[in-house]
Amino acid sequence: MKQSEIIAQLRENMSRAYAPYSKFHVGSVIRSTDGQYYNGCNVENAAYPLGVCAEGGAISAMIQNGSREIAEIYVMGDGDALVTPCGGCRQKIREFANANTQIHICGPEGLRKTFTIEDLLPFSFGPDNLNK
Ligand code: THU
Repeated sequence: MKQSEIIAQLRENMSRAYAPYSKFHVGSVIRSTDGQYYNGCNVENAAYPLGVCAEGGAISAMIQNGSREIAEIYVMGDGDALVTPCGGCRQKIREFANANTQIHICGPEGLRKTFTIEDLLPFSFGPDNLNK
């Protein structure tokens, strides 16, 4: 997929968000290291803490389809501030990231900034701690 196509897909994923409470729509796309693409959007709940982030949805889709490693994950949301993943999502991404995994933060107009997991979650706890 070209980056312009990924940006278009992110807009589509954002539009599918179920966010009646925050009204903050987020879309995500993962490209796994085996070349597959997975989509996610945030899905809120009337029991507020049960809402899931766009990144979590894309990770679930990736695992269900048999991929295990994230080459790139894109996140798109509105507003001037960077829509960087929440703390919980950083840990979820960490589980399936490698040192080169690119975390691309986008606004509706396109790519804004790219991070590694080490940038966003330094000194992280991960599978290696459990020798898995
Ligand atoms: N949200 C995401 O889906 N991903 C992020 O990276 C930031 C926040 C969602 C959670 C909630 O549904 C809404 O945005 C407002 O926090």
